[in-house]
Amino acid sequence: MSQTASRTDDDVETGAPQSSVKPNGLELIYEPIRTEMESVELMLRRELSNEVPFVDELLKHSWLLGGKRIRPAFLLLCGASCGTIGQSHRQIAAALEMIHTATLIHDDILDEALTRRHRATANSTWGNKTSVLLGDYLFTHSFHIASLAESCEALRMLAVASNRVCEGEMRQNAWQGKFDLTEADYLLMITEKTAELCGVSCRLGAFLSGASQEQADNYESYGRGLGVAFQVIDDVLDLVGKPNQVGKTLGTDLVNQKPTLPVIHCLQNMDPTLQEEFKLILADPSSNCDTLMPFLDKTDSIAYARSVAENHAKEAIEFAESLPTNPAATSLRGLAEFVLRRSH
Ligand code: IPE
Ligand code: IPE
Ligand code: MG
Ligand code: MG
Repeated sequence: MSQTASRTDDDVETGAPQSSVKPNGLELIYEPIRTEMESVELMLRRELSNEVPFVDELLKHSWLLGGKRIRPAFLLLCGASCGTIGQSHRQIAAALEMIHTATLIHDDILDEALTRRHRATANSTWGNKTSVLLGDYLFTHSFHIASLAESCEALRMLAVASNRVCEGEMRQNAWQGKFDLTEADYLLMITEKTAELCGVSCRLGAFLSGASQEQADNYESYGRGLGVAFQVIDDVLDLVGKPNQVGKTLGTDLVNQKPTLPVIHCLQNMDPTLQEEFKLILADPSSNCDTLMPFLDKTDSIAYARSVAENHAKEAIEFAESLPTNPAATSLRGLAEFVLRRSH
């Protein structure tokens, strides 16, 4: 067993974690799980430290990165809405955030992104080789932490979902430049790369609180629906978001030739005589979001993408409203609304 797993909370400085400034509204939504979220934050700090200074610097960068911490919040709120939160919830929540951060570090290498969570990315700071290794460390350490919860079933769920995220990223890579993708294929890809992890976060929260199979299925559908909506909105923000607000490099989807819903919809719905010209613009490295916008405006493709996100969030909202009333259930509804209106 590594040294990190044997550390206790007393080994690290205490006090309110300062690693993340939450966007408007999230603090309130997280209120029913505030102390649990703080424990997860401390666990991340404790686990992501090392006696080798260079490794320590890299690991600190990964938790200092902050972020919205939506996946731990999904797990803890779902767990709290149907039962009691225990140490295993906190351990699996920390593992989930580590897996998510690992995928971001690798994704930023693929996207050649410079900014993430309002800071320089690992790849722009230390280069790709070091960043691949940092991502690997986070992946392996996440399973180390998750193993402390002593649930083979929870570990299996995490592993399956992590595989799916990788499959989604591989699918996206294989479909680079394929802007005539069907909407169904796009939805499949984002379900794998983003919604799976959100879905399993919710399932795990319910599972660890002793939910029935049927309840766990419903929680997973809630998270999956919101995960799809989350990625569609992310793809909209990549085109129309404000870099200072979103805190990451935007416009990378076009640069990296990623087919996203607004562009797919625009291509399918534009005057057929313009399609060839639009494809050339999409392939032209000098094009940017401003170049695309007149085309997207004509087909109302940003509004269309937002409506698809709303449709996917609708069932999740209905599910949250059907839960017995308690503060965590209210926050699950609030989280669904946040996903739709977020600008971060
Ligand atoms: C970014 O996820 C990657 C996507 C799935 C779109 P988040 O927006 O949850 O990233 P952080 O953790 O808050 O930085
Ligand atoms: C989500 O896709 C990334 C992962 C699921 C790892 P994006 O490439 O859109 O994420 P951002 O925009 O870089 O955060
Ligand atoms: Mg990216
Ligand atoms: Mg994006």
